[in-house]
Amino acid sequence: MRRPFIAGNWKMYKTPTEAKAFARELKNALADVKDRDILVGVSFVNIAGVVEELKGSNIWVAAQNMYYEKEGAFTGEVSPVQLKEAGVTHVILGHSERRHIFGETDEMINKKVKAALENGLLPILCIGELLEEREKGQTEAVCKRQVEEAYKGLSKEEALKVTIAYEPVWAIGTGKTATPEDANQVHAYVRKVLAELYDAEVAEKTRIQYGGSVKPENIDALMAQEHIDGALVGGASLKLDSFTRIVRFQ
Ligand code: PGA
Repeated sequence: MRRPFIAGNWKMYKTPTEAKAFARELKNALADVKDRDILVGVSFVNIAGVVEELKGSNIWVAAQNMYYEKEGAFTGEVSPVQLKEAGVTHVILGHSERRHIFGETDEMINKKVKAALENGLLPILCIGELLEEREKGQTEAVCKRQVEEAYKGLSKEEALKVTIAYEPVWAIGTGKTATPEDANQVHAYVRKVLAELYDAEVAEKTRIQYGGSVKPENIDALMAQEHIDGALVGGASLKLDSFTRIVRFQ
C-alpha cells in the first residue's frame, strides 16, 4: 500500500507574516493526523518562517522551484544547497506554470530533478497535458515523454525518491477536474511507463498525486481510485477549512 500524500501548493500567495501565521493554524489543526503525509509548497521568502513554525510537526515544507547548479553567478536563482540548509525536504519541479509561463523545458527539469536528488531534496515532479493535447488524443504520449525525460539518468534508487503529480493543465485553477476515472487511467498509464523504464517495484511504490482543481467536494472520489495516491492542491490549499478537509479525505 502506498501511503497517501497530500500537498498544498501556495504558489505566489501569502507574505512571510501571513505564511507563518497560516502554518501555525495548519500545524494545530492537523496535529493528530498520522496515517498520511502532508506538505506545503511555499515561496522562497516564506521558507524560513514556515520551516521554523512547522519544526517537529507532521507537515513537510517544499520549495516550488530551484536552479540546478550548487552555486555561482546566477542572479535571482536559488540552489538546492541553499534550500537544503533552509530546511525544506522537497521541491516541486516542472509545474505547468514553470513550463508554460517561464519556458522550462524537459531538459531543464531533468537537470533540476537530478540536482535535487544529489543534494538530498525529494522532487515532486509535475507532468500533464494541455487541453489541445488532450483533445488530439495525446495525453499518454505527453505524459510518457515528460516522465522519460525527467527521469533520464536516474538510478532505480533515485527514481524511488520521486513523487509524481499528474496535473492536466486544463484543470489547473479552472474549476474543471478530470473525472476520477479519467485521472486514474492516466495514473495507471504512468505506472506502466515507470515499469518499462525501471521495474514493477518502482511502478508499484511511486506515489502519484492528482492535481487540478482539487477541493473538498471531489477529494474523496479521487482518493478512492486505485492509482491516485494523493493530491497537489493549489487554490483550495490557501484556506484552513478546505485544506484540512482535503487532508482528512475519507
Ligand atoms: P489548483 O492548482 O488546485 O488551484 O487547480 C493546482 C496546482 O497548480 O498545483
